[in-house]
Order: sequence, then C-alpha cells, then structure tokens
Amino acid sequence: MTLPDSAAVQAHIAAFEADLQAAGSPRDAQAVRDKYLGRKNGVVASWMQMIGGASPDRRREIGRYANELKQAIEARWIAYEAAVDSRARPPDAVDVTLPGRIPRLGHRHPLTIVRDRMEEIFTRMAFAIVEGPEVEDEWHCFDALNMPAEHPARDMQDTLYLAPPIRGDRDDDLRTLLRTHTSSIQIRYMRTHQPPIRIIAPGRVYRRDDLDLTHTPMFSQVEGLVVDENIGFSDLKGHLQTFLENLLGARTKTRFRPSYFPFTEPSTEVDVKCFFCPGDGCPSCKHTGWIEILGAGVVNPRVLSSVGWDPEKWSGFAFGIGVERVAMLVHGVRDLRDFYTNDLRFLKQFDEDFV
Ligand code: PHE
Repeated sequence: MTLPDSAAVQAHIAAFEADLQAAGSPRDAQAVRDKYLGRKNGVVASWMQMIGGASPDRRREIGRYANELKQAIEARWIAYEAAVDSRARPPDAVDVTLPGRIPRLGHRHPLTIVRDRMEEIFTRMAFAIVEGPEVEDEWHCFDALNMPAEHPARDMQDTLYLAPPIRGDRDDDLRTLLRTHTSSIQIRYMRTHQPPIRIIAPGRVYRRDDLDLTHTPMFSQVEGLVVDENIGFSDLKGHLQTFLENLLGARTKTRFRPSYFPFTEPSTEVDVKCFFCPGDGCPSCKHTGWIEILGAGVVNPRVLSSVGWDPEKWSGFAFGIGVERVAMLVHGVRDLRDFYTNDLRFLKQFDEDFV
C-alpha cells in the first residue's frame, strides 16, 4: 500500500481516471469508484485507518492527503456520471433517415356521421336546427301533443320518470321524465316563436325497453316540423321523398303507409325498399320487402291550439326519423347495441366517407 503523500494522491487520481476510461459497463465504473471511495476497502478509507496508528504530527498530514484524494475522486466521478447521462440522451438527436410515424387520426362516431348528414340535407332544404332538453315534463312530452293522461305511452312501463314533480308553467304539479321522443322540442319551439317555421330537432330519446337486437333504452331521432299557411299532406310527401333520395340515393323507392299518432292527422309511416334483398323478403325486412324508416303526419289542429296558434290559419307537417335505424340500414348492421359498446374493431370500420 502506497503511503499517503502528495505523489501518491496524484498517482491514484491518474489511476482512477485510467480505470474509469477502461470501464466497459456502469457496473465496472461503479467498481472503479468503490476501489477508491468504498467505505471498507477503498483507498481513502484505508488511509483514514492509518491515522489511529500514526504519530501526532503525521496524523494531520495523512488526514489532509486522504481528503484531497477523496474530493478529487468525487469531483471526477460526478463529472463522469453527468457525461454518461448526456450521452444516453443526446439533445436534439433526430435521425432523419428513420421512416415517419403516421399519426393515428380518430373520426366521428358512425351515428354522428349519419346525423350530421341528415342535418346537412335539411339545412340545404332551408330548415333551421334547434335543440331541447332531454329532461322534460309531462306537458311538453305528452299533453301538448294530444296524448292525454290515460295514453298508454305515459305508463311507467314505457317511460322513465324522474322524481320529484316540478311546478309547471300552469302552476300544476308535473312529473319530470326523460323525453320519449323529440316531438317535445316541437312544443318548446312553437311556444317561443311565431309561424311560419321550418325546423329540425335532433336529439337523444329514452324508453323503458329491454336491450335486444333492435332496442336500446336510449336512441336518437331527428324531428322535423313545418308550419305555414296552406301546408298539407302533399308538402309532407314531397319533402320526405326529396330528403330520402338525398340520403339514400336517387333511385330510392318509398311507400307511405297509413298509421296513427295522436299529434298528427292523417298520420303515416314511411318504408323504403329493403336494402338486403331484391324485394322478395328476408329476415331484415321481416319478409315484407320493405323497411320502416320514419313516422310523420299533418300536424293535429289540437297541437297548434295547445301552443296558442290558430289552426284555422296555420297548418303543418311533422316527422320523426330514427337515426340508428337509418345507420343500421345503410351499413347492414344487425345489432343496434354495437353502436354503444365502443368496440374499436366495430367503430373503426366507419371512416369519414360513409353515407
Ligand atoms: N314522435 C314519433 C315517435 O317517436 C314520431 C313522429 C314524429 C311521428 C312526428 C309523427 C310526427 O315515434
């Protein structure tokens, strides 16, 4: 063991640097450090141990050399670690020869794409887009639409009610509910505007349905309402035929079937020729060759009266289209629940180009 003196300090520093240069791995480097600074067998520690056995005048000297060596090695170790660290993460190192990474873009949900497409067609037909609340009261959802208290749709079996009742505009207690159709938006809009009007109202609606292939407790509709002077069934037919041809193609065949809704008279349900078979019947069209796509009708005069509009002067037509229904038809989706379970393997199929 070299005795502590100035030359020994310099020799150890030089040896430490040479050892460190030669270290091939972080573990080797650590061993080099320990050889000098290790608490038990390091050079600095062994010099310190000599202090006890040395004469009083040598003690100070040994202490000074030991400290000198310790500080020199520590400083070099810190510098070495910093250098290794910066080599591991070189600043601004961009390898321009690497192939680029293509950023993964998301896209709209298939139902949003279909709804946006409907909105776009109606906007071109000069309709304004309006919205209304999903939490409704019984008056806007039912009474004003000529659905009296005993109407079966108002049953707890069909409608999701919320507690507690709220005080209505007319100072009566009204039950609140999740709207069962977007027709409630017609009423809200008519009460705050004057005719003539020309609106569509897209939105989510809720019903107490059990989940199956074609039912979910929440789905979406696009409601439409036109009120003006001298509006009749022919206006309804012309508008809806034009809309469906724009949405589904110029050769779309439609069928207007008589139907019943309390808020329209006469009422109709509109079918389009089945997309899945040549028209001779398959499971998707329940073997009829036709698929129902919307409900519509001439606005019942009672609805106009309920919002204070004169039914002698004004008339109109209304319609409600199921957004999921259209999306299922266009894309051959047989299970409605696929739209809501957020399975990316399903959703990824619908890029921005469809419909
Ligand atoms: N509100 C009806 C429904 O949910 C659809 C509809 C709207 C029918 C407007 C006629 C007029 O089923």
